[in-house]
Amino acid sequence: MKNLNILQTFSMALILSSCANTYNPLDDYTQLDRVAILETPDPDSTMIFPEEIVANGQYLVGLLGCGSCHTNGALVGAPVPNQLLAGSNIGIAYSNPLAVRNPGIVYPGNLTPDMETGIGSWSIGQIVTMVQSGLDNHNSQTIPVMPWPSYANITNDDAYSIAVYLKSLTPVRHLVPDNVSPRQPATAPFVHFGVYQSNEQLR
Ligand code: HEC
Repeated sequence: MKNLNILQTFSMALILSSCANTYNPLDDYTQLDRVAILETPDPDSTMIFPEEIVANGQYLVGLLGCGSCHTNGALVGAPVPNQLLAGSNIGIAYSNPLAVRNPGIVYPGNLTPDMETGIGSWSIGQIVTMVQSGLDNHNSQTIPVMPWPSYANITNDDAYSIAVYLKSLTPVRHLVPDNVSPRQPATAPFVHFGVYQSNEQLR
């Protein structure tokens, strides 16, 4: 999965830099706990969706690590209980921090069906489209920090299961911070996802 690859790249860069004697800007960064698969919330028992579709969606959402970004605290290793999949107050800066001083920051949204702060107003089809091609409910392309390129080959049935499961969750009222454009000051905490290069020659 894309996010795991990014985390692996990140930790590999940290391992390489630990061999260096010279100053390495990566020393300014702390490695985060890896959160690959989070617990996923139980569906709302009053839902009218078929149980096996919801169960498949719950399994896939856990497997694909949606909650690792879309849960408050998960990006720094401590998911906030009762806020699973309800969006992250910690954003993701989406370029190499060593090359770009003020990259843009995106905040993974609330995936519970709250009408105002979550995806309650999205149709099942709109959620399927977001997972498979990164187009949001206004037909805008999201940048691939939301790892839709890695999800593009998900079958229609599996994407449908994911959407139905998200729709079946108990709505959580939680508004994430607005995205920050490149070169604008951050308004809330964030982590960096990026590609890192060691300053040392590999021997
Ligand atoms: C690596 C982090 C990451 C992972 C993993 C991830 N997302 Fe996202 N997702 C994001 C970010 C960041 C955004 C916001 C993008 C933007 O605003 O441009 C987003 C946006 C979304 C949106 C639109 C929400 C809105 O309110 O606009 C949906 C729906 C969504 N993701 C579903 C999923 C699902 C389902 C999964 C798992 C199959 C998933 N995401 C996995 C980071 C992630």
